[in-house]
Amino acid sequence: MIKVADVAYGRLGAPDLDRMEEFLLDFGMVRADRTKTALYMRGTDSEHHLHVTEIGDPTHFGLAYFARSEDDLKTLSKADGASEVEEIDEPGGGKRVRLTDPDGRPIEVIHGMETLDPIEVRDVVINTGKERFNRTGDLQRLKMRPSHVKRSAHAVFRTTNLKATLEWYQGYLGLMETDTIYVGDKDNHLATFNHIDAGDEYVDHHVMLALQSDSAAFNHLSFEVADFDDVQIGHEYLEKTGKYKLAWGIGRHVMGSQIFDYWRDPWGRIHEHWTDSDMVNANHVPELYADYEGLVNQWGPDFPETFLDDPELHAL
Ligand SMILES: [Fe+2]
Repeated sequence: MIKVADVAYGRLGAPDLDRMEEFLLDFGMVRADRTKTALYMRGTDSEHHLHVTEIGDPTHFGLAYFARSEDDLKTLSKADGASEVEEIDEPGGGKRVRLTDPDGRPIEVIHGMETLDPIEVRDVVINTGKERFNRTGDLQRLKMRPSHVKRSAHAVFRTTNLKATLEWYQGYLGLMETDTIYVGDKDNHLATFNHIDAGDEYVDHHVMLALQSDSAAFNHLSFEVADFDDVQIGHEYLEKTGKYKLAWGIGRHVMGSQIFDYWRDPWGRIHEHWTDSDMVNANHVPELYADYEGLVNQWGPDFPETFLDDPELHAL
């Protein structure tokens, strides 16, 4: 029905907003606003926020995507089960349409959220073997500190019906299949990566990954950071706090090629830092990969079993 522009934020629940804020600050976000009942965190880009935590049970309340125009919201409001176009009564404002995906996951499509001045981040200039003089006279002196979360990048979840889920996201939100992973038989699809349809313009390899499973569940929210040093220093910083569990990393994926690092928040929910994604556009031709080709790394630690099937994470 429409083609969304990007993922906007994930909405989580947490019984202790102070503890959640402490984690997200350590993870490299900045507070945009906080009310009595919710916490809104931003990155260095200009979106008002890219992460919402509501006070309550440590569960997942769904995902929000950016519409390209208010007209697109009007179009989407005519979808089966969609809300009217409504004002967002929260910091950052804007308008939204609420929908429910085939698993029952709440989806918001929003437009007109307030923008803020971007937060300055140092320029990333790196000397390589081929280009040795990119950083002449500029000494690299990095500080041990949290990473710089730049923007919302993607969300990953488990679904009980991969086919219906893909039809829904592709049909209503205009996502396009990037690549699919199968197990054994080529018709036995385990997971499909989807990208934004921005025509000829290049976008991240995936904005959404859905995994076929026997239960629907949230898996992770993902955020782009400034550069590779940010991934590595952010990792060391989180490790040195001694407060959080590493979920997987640091490594370089095959699917999307990102250099990644995954951490669990105080209630076990996975948050990802990455840099250097593959970029595709609407001309990309989807490919099929076996699980042993696609779910491995180009380098880094092996895929941990607990990553996909964590009993703590059975909320949507
Ligand atoms: Fe990811």
